[in-house]
Parts: sequence; structure tokens; C-alpha cells
Amino acid sequence: MRSVCVLRGDGIGPEVIDCATRVLSSVTDDIEMVHADIGRQAYKRTGKYLPDDTFEAMADADSCLFGAVTSESGAQYDSPVLGFRKRLDLFANIRPSRDFLNPDRSDVDLVIVRENTEGLYTQDEDEDESGVTTRRRVSKDASKRIIGCAVELARNRRRRSICCVHKANVLTKSDGLFLRLFDEAVAKESDWLSHSDQLVDSAAAGIVTNPKKFDVIVTLNLYGDILSDVAAAVVGGLGFAPSGNIGPSHSVFEPAHGSAPDIAGMGVANPTAAILSAGMMLEHLGMKDEATRVVEAISAAYMSGTRTVDIGGCYGSQHFTDEVIECLTRDR
Ligand code: NAI
Ligand code: MG
Repeated sequence: MRSVCVLRGDGIGPEVIDCATRVLSSVTDDIEMVHADIGRQAYKRTGKYLPDDTFEAMADADSCLFGAVTSESGAQYDSPVLGFRKRLDLFANIRPSRDFLNPDRSDVDLVIVRENTEGLYTQDEDEDESGVTTRRRVSKDASKRIIGCAVELARNRRRRSICCVHKANVLTKSDGLFLRLFDEAVAKESDWLSHSDQLVDSAAAGIVTNPKKFDVIVTLNLYGDILSDVAAAVVGGLGFAPSGNIGPSHSVFEPAHGSAPDIAGMGVANPTAAILSAGMMLEHLGMKDEATRVVEAISAAYMSGTRTVDIGGCYGSQHFTDEVIECLTRDR
């Protein structure tokens, strides 16, 4: 039995996570779910967006499934997402994009491996009268670690190809270091791995115009954040983008989208990203067959024409999930 800490969060977080846990319960009875609060509800209970007992439940579980939180403004706000990524040492953010909507684009299947601990996300900012200075750290250890993780991921994929995305023409020292470490790492794997590098701006255009060109992309924190939303849009929108935050001993899986306050409470959020995140979690927990069944059920639901509101259909979150569960059980 594996234990999973379920964190529903704010906005559409609870709506999509409830869909994902329904799918999990349909595909296996080998998972014990422990619920914990995060975000606004947690703040009301404890005065913290990531309470200590929630953090302990996350650290104790074999993995975590998280929805989204709504960010607050103001200097007092401490992002619970940045908090658990840092405290659980979740150094790799894995963000796949696959086209389920168009059968003729089934070769669009890329994964962005985003450095998750440094870059611009350390919130190291100083303000003076003339403006604000932000420090952006690129360390050798963190770069080697994420590049090594991306190379290992590429090893298990059909195309075995990797592209380093950077801005080393301008940020010659920091991004230059990242690119140099990439070149050193892939040189050792040249017998099986095909590799390239690309500037982040042209990579953004490339993902839009020729997404099937990409297999594994390894990149720095901010570029990965932005490019993964671009890649999501190419395959149907934010409702299609799952993710996994992975570290040496902990993991948190979450849809890449936010809490979507504009549609929260309406029951129309597309739960695909959350369900696919649960599928990634199953694979991470060693339940490969169950993970494959989840992806196949999503694919079958789309093949049969099921469409949620965000892509012009009329299905709500739960109705779409009913269809996915129907596909899961029909295939048995
Ligand atoms: P968002 O991803 O929440 O929404 C952007 C747009 O995409 C909205 O129009 C929304 O309706 C739509 N959308 C997102 N997910 C969808 C889904 N599953 N189905 C259908 N439509 C969907 O990003 P936004 O609006 O920039 O941020 C809203 C809040 O979420 C902010 O407070 C932000 O800080 C927070 N956020 C939290 C994240 C997390 O908890 N990991 C990640 C990103 C944003
Ligand atoms: Mg983002």
C-alpha cells in the first residue's frame, strides 16, 4: 500500500483534484489517501499557507497530489508552493505536453525538464529609491543535477533526443555555465543521445510552429515555467498540462495551471491536467501499468469526442471524469 498526501488547495484546485482522486480510486485500491490543507483554508485554520502539520503529512507520504493555490499580494505572503519545493528539495519540475485532441498530431509529445530550486525564484530582491535589484543564481551543482535528470529521462524515451534551452548569448556567464555543463554531460552519452541547444526566444517560437521537433527540453527555472505554458497552449491549453516536482526522496504532482479564480465554483474546469498528474504519480510510485491505463483512458475519452468547455465542448469536470472512468473500466 502506498500513501499519498492529497492537497486540494484553492479555486479550481479542489474541483480538479476530486476528479483525479476518483480516477485513482478506479484504477487501484493500493493507494491510501491522506488529506491535508494548503492555501487560504489552511491560513484560516493556522495563520500559515503551508502549516507545519501539512508539511509533515507531505514529507511522511510516499508522494503528494496537489491542486493549486491562489497567490496573495503583500510582503507578508509566503508562497506555499515555493515553500514545499524548497523544503522537500524538489529540484526537478517535469512538464510533459502531448496532443490528445488531434490524431494527426500524435507525434507532438515533448517534456520540459525545468530547474526548480534557483534562478529567479529565490525571491532575492533588494529595493532602493531608484528601483529593485533581483539576484539570479545559477549554480554548478543545481545545473548538473537537473541536466543529469533530463538525460536519464531521455534514455527511457523513444526518440532519445535532448535540447538545452538558454539565453547564453546575453547571460554569458550564468546561462553560459548551464550550457557548458550541458555540453559536457551530453558528450559522455553521444553514442545513444542526440543533442542540440537553442536560445529561449527562438525555442518559444519553435514550440508553437514545430512542436514535434522537440523531445526532452532541459532549461532554467523561469524559461521552463514560461515555455511549459506555451507548450500546454499548443496541445489545447492549460487544462492539458500535468507536472511532477521530483526530489531525491519526495515528490509532488500537480497540474501546471493555477487556481483559475475566473472559473472556480462553476464545475467547468478541465481535469485532464490533474488526472494526468495523478498518472505521472502512479508511474513514479512504480505502478507503470496503472499509469498507462490512465493515459489511455484520457486518450480514449478524447477520441470518442468528449470535450470540456475550455475547448469548445459542453462537458463539465465531473461528466468528463465519468467518461474517463467509463473508458478505464470498459478496457478491462
Ligand atoms: P491560471 O492557470 O489559474 O488561469 C489562467 C487561465 O487559464 C484562466 O483563464 C483559467 O480559467 C484558465 N484555466 C486554467 N486552468 C484551467 C483548467 N483546468 N480548465 C479550464 N481552464 C483553465 O493562471 P492565473 O490566472 O495566472 O493565476 C490564478 C491564480 O493561480 C494566481 O493567484 C496565481 O498566482 C495562482 N497560480 C498558482 C499556481 C500553483 O498553485 N502551482 C500556478 C500558477 C498560478
Ligand atoms: Mg507557471
